[in-house]
Amino acid sequence: MIIRKAQESDVPAITAIYNEAVIGSTATFDLEPVSVEERLVWFSKYGGRYPLIAAEAKASGEVIGWGCLSPYSEKDGYRFTAEHSIYVSPQYQNQGVGKALLQELLNLAQQHGFHSLIARISSENTASLNLHLGFGFVQAGVLREVGYKFDRWIDIVLMQKLL
Ligand SMILES: CC(C)(COP(=O)(O)OP(=O)(O)OC[C@H]1O[C@@H](n2cnc3c(N)ncnc32)[C@H](O)[C@@H]1OP(=O)(O)O)[C@@H](O)C(=O)NCCC(=O)NCCS
Repeated sequence: MIIRKAQESDVPAITAIYNEAVIGSTATFDLEPVSVEERLVWFSKYGGRYPLIAAEAKASGEVIGWGCLSPYSEKDGYRFTAEHSIYVSPQYQNQGVGKALLQELLNLAQQHGFHSLIARISSENTASLNLHLGFGFVQAGVLREVGYKFDRWIDIVLMQKLL
């Protein structure tokens, strides 16, 4: 696998991976699949301090996962804190792709001078909680029943790492 900067031509694959999570999981609280056109607008906001990266299968060149750093808040006083996201294609999950993406996001966050990284994780997302615990993230709190998807309330766990 190669971890690299995402390109505009990756957006259809990135969108497809995201939409699998929209439809089948509480990893995201989007309720309807997003279009490639919407994701192209989203893509244009990344770059510089807020990188978007892709995991590419070496043999096929297929994009099998992606991750990004996003602003925690638009307010300037929060500029050293970022929020991150990672999505891996279902058929490639549990094979180390998420770890490789998170490691690279941590490297990039450090390079860009961030002090704090935050992930908002559904309390039922054991894979993501374990992934973050493995990288030294600590639980900073639980927001009770802030999400509602698939006809149920869902708690959000805030996981934080100081860099
Ligand atoms: C969460 C996610 C990013 C993890 O990526 P991944 O490539 O599947 O994970 P990895 O193979 O790199 O595993 C990393 C660690 O995660 C944990 N993990 C992964 N899959 C797991 C599972 N099915 N159950 C429990 N823990 C799991 C383990 O701790 C693992 O470390 P270990 O192998 O040393 O035990 C991926 O499953 C995914 O994209 N899920 C859907 C979208 C999502 O939930 N994104 C995160 C939103 S907060």
